[in-house]
Amino acid sequence: MQEKLREITENALKKIKDAKSINEVYAVNTAVLGKNGELSLLMRGLRDLRAEERPQVGALMNKCRDDINNALHLREKELLDEALDEKIASEKIDVTTPVKPFQYGTKHPIEQIQQELIDYFVAQGFEVKDGTDVETDYYCFEALNIPKDHPARDAQDTFYFDPERILRVHTSATQVRTMETQQPPIKMISTGKVYRVDEIDATHSPIFHQFEILVVDEHLTMGDLKGILEGLVKYLFGEKTQIRMRPSFFPFTEPSVEVDATCPYCGGKGCSICKNSGFIELLGAGMVNPKVLENCNIDSSKYTGLAAGLGLDRMAMIRYGITDIRELYDNDINFLKQFK
Ligand code: PHE
Repeated sequence: MQEKLREITENALKKIKDAKSINEVYAVNTAVLGKNGELSLLMRGLRDLRAEERPQVGALMNKCRDDINNALHLREKELLDEALDEKIASEKIDVTTPVKPFQYGTKHPIEQIQQELIDYFVAQGFEVKDGTDVETDYYCFEALNIPKDHPARDAQDTFYFDPERILRVHTSATQVRTMETQQPPIKMISTGKVYRVDEIDATHSPIFHQFEILVVDEHLTMGDLKGILEGLVKYLFGEKTQIRMRPSFFPFTEPSVEVDATCPYCGGKGCSICKNSGFIELLGAGMVNPKVLENCNIDSSKYTGLAAGLGLDRMAMIRYGITDIRELYDNDINFLKQFK
């Protein structure tokens, strides 16, 4: 019996060692340790032995069973590990494969100027106010002293959703929204898209971008307005830039001015960019019409206001020498990546 035990054990251990697959390991398990396995059958014969032999042979059998069991588990683990290693190796991604170089985008020229101006004014204590693209007739026109039948409406015709709701023609609507909710002193800027019924050409677009400046306080004069605009123009186009103010008309400012800057290309001598005038038109501005202050419940006998609105698209065109406004909206990567 002991001879048989050794034979079964050696045989089993060898088969386990040689097993090439997990199923072979399980087959040895069934064949040897299973209910009717070789060793199990042999163990059942234990009861036929003499009583004094039983403990010793029994202990030997248990040891053989444990050895085989351990060997089975060891081999099972080895084979599972091998299979896992193979799976990992076969599914490995070669991260060293060269990829196409990543193209970094650039900020759109309008966005660049917008950000620079926001930084400039925020540093001087101005608040940035959000406006809405869809505005009402009241905030765009009426509160700004442009009644329904006023001819100034024609200059800024817009897109109507219905008689009351429109796409805003200018960021000046945000002036009103701010003054309605805040008493002076007010120092605010507001920026965003504006909409007008304009034919598209090299210098016009039905959608463009504005930047609005409003200050309301006691004792403000045209001198303050000039100082703010001079600082702004020098910041954008260089220290040597001068400004010129010409009388103009806006229903919401009185007096109103059109502001020109000396041409940043020729310094005022005259060139093709400024059409030999030495100046380029920049923006509209003025002292807030007392009627507008009153419309917003601000005491016009105590407070005065100054305001300006400029086109960011135009600023970008002047700064970068862009001659056709449409290029700003074409989304041509090769065009845009020039403005770093
Ligand atoms: N809102 C005017 C326009 O769109 C510009 C402007 C703003 C003029 C503020 C004066 C004061 O043309």
